[in-house]
Amino acid sequence: MELIVARHREDLVKARGEGAVALVPTMGALHEGHRSLIRLARERADHVVVSVFVNPLQFGPNEDFSRYPRTFDADLEVCRAEGVDVVFAPSAEDMYRPDRQVSVNAGHMGTVVEGASRPGHFDGVLTVVLKLFNLVRPDVAVFGQKDAQQLALIRRMVADLDLPVEIVGAPTVREPDGLALSSRNRYLSGDERTVALALSRALRAGAAESVPSAILATARSVLDAAGDRLGLDYLVLVDPATFAQARETHAGPAVLAVAARVGTTRLIDNVVLTLTPA
Ligand code: PAF
Repeated sequence: MELIVARHREDLVKARGEGAVALVPTMGALHEGHRSLIRLARERADHVVVSVFVNPLQFGPNEDFSRYPRTFDADLEVCRAEGVDVVFAPSAEDMYRPDRQVSVNAGHMGTVVEGASRPGHFDGVLTVVLKLFNLVRPDVAVFGQKDAQQLALIRRMVADLDLPVEIVGAPTVREPDGLALSSRNRYLSGDERTVALALSRALRAGAAESVPSAILATARSVLDAAGDRLGLDYLVLVDPATFAQARETHAGPAVLAVAARVGTTRLIDNVVLTLTPA
């Protein structure tokens, strides 16, 4: 099957095939992590649609919207190689009416942890994801666990707004040395990349402990050892469904999440742990 590239919402309606449809929303700059999402989507449905759209709504005024990597031709090659049926790549004008008024509010959960550092970010993410759901009308949509709070908020939106789509979370793909794959890794110099390895090292060290205070202290000591070239934004242990801080007596799944700046690049990473009651 030839890959169909839908540049406008009208082209998308024509391209949508019969049978179950899986959507993989992306901002392009596709890497091995995206490939794993596409493969999961392929297992779940007859048709796979990948959206490629750098969503201006989810970038703050001092964030990297204009320098965010745009590698559309290479993205199309990845999609062809992975047997994607349709790439939906609208322009910002096609996605957002100039007089638009209504958007999704991510609620309290959108203002904590990553949302505290990036005000409005999750409102922008949920707004574009809801629009993509309405335009593509997928049966299944696949998102990476690397953006754990985004995944949790999308699940909340689907539940709270009764959206008829199944959300599938996909495990984080890592380089052999532990670095979580991210489109932003390409900003890192060789030295910065070495500093950035402290994130995954800290998460692994924290995950070897069993109570919240020890998990956080151990992970923190690894981050501190990286020195001042690593600018820590947050290190938290939270409930995966609510992103509320885990108490010392927390039992069950928890997300150990970190965000830090290395040079001018902001990186996030997380691991999911299961805490057993003491
Ligand atoms: O995870 C991303 O790449 C983006 O936040 C998403 C889900 C494609 C929305 O723009």
